[in-house]
Amino acid sequence: MAESRPRVWVSQPLFDDVIGQLGQYFDLTTTVDVAAYSSAELSERLAPLDGALITLNERIGAREIAHAPRLRAIANVGVGYNNLDIAALSAAGIVATNTPDVLTETTADLGFTLLMAAARRISDAERWLREGQWGQWSFQNMLGADIHGATLGILGMGRIGQGIARRGAHGFGMRVLYHNRSQLPAQTEQALGAQYVDFDTLLAQADHLVLVLPYTQDSHHIIDAAALAKMKASATLVNIARGGIVDELALADALSNGRLAAAGLDVFEGEPAVRSELLALRNVVLTPHIGSASLATRRSMVQLAVDNLIAALGEGASAGHPPSAINADAITAAKAGGATVGATKTGATKR
Ligand code: GLV
Repeated sequence: MAESRPRVWVSQPLFDDVIGQLGQYFDLTTTVDVAAYSSAELSERLAPLDGALITLNERIGAREIAHAPRLRAIANVGVGYNNLDIAALSAAGIVATNTPDVLTETTADLGFTLLMAAARRISDAERWLREGQWGQWSFQNMLGADIHGATLGILGMGRIGQGIARRGAHGFGMRVLYHNRSQLPAQTEQALGAQYVDFDTLLAQADHLVLVLPYTQDSHHIIDAAALAKMKASATLVNIARGGIVDELALADALSNGRLAAAGLDVFEGEPAVRSELLALRNVVLTPHIGSASLATRRSMVQLAVDNLIAALGEGASAGHPPSAINADAITAAKAGGATVGATKTGATKR
């Protein structure tokens, strides 16, 4: 009897022509309608699978993989992976992958768009126009803050942070300050036109502060009331990272009490829910987590996730070497240390 092919599931409707490539190697189950899964539903879905291609909306940890003995790979469509419990996946010998690089420039574009829209009051001005208030015109109406020549602060200087820095320094003649877990090499700083400063200096000196750091226990609410109090009252805050980095109630309070001029938010702590305190404000530009949402980039992300899944399940030209594995080293270490890795699971993956 012919051996059955590995089973793979795609959790959301993505691009059919790209996803279809998985059918060449696997027994493929796709999803036709956008779905929200409970933990129990995910556990049930994952149980018979060898691999899954998922989005940031699916949270997968020990509970969800507990009844999935064959599962060897989870391909996340997204660069951030706080929806995955990497320690639990590694301990179970499951390769996790993400989609870095392909979304860098598109996400940096959106970060800069939000910065400009918030600083120049674009949402507020458009609402005012649509409300028929233009008749109340005054020369001093809708006064925003300049972008060119201002000081741009960047918290988190990975690929996207560097994209924002390049736009600010080279496109708008901004002074660029950044804070990051580690300082970049001098040559990189010079090429970007960016200067490393401590966290408090960044808060105090930025005219526009963009958050681009990963969401971890350490970065949870790193922008809280105390941090906001250190910022200029004329400043703009932009968050394109994860909602939980900002204490949203403290932010709404600062925005409504004149202690911060404006904010641009693409991510929210309880998304898709957005706090009423933020919705009520006119000096905040709100977008529904669309950082990487250009057609070309979203297609590239799905293509990379497909390539990752094929390789992680030991197929295709890069078999065993997914282009962007997150936990390859942890799996190698677990295996070397004799940790139990299921009999059907493939070898560790290396870039
Ligand atoms: C989007 O937020 C991503 O992590 O890709």
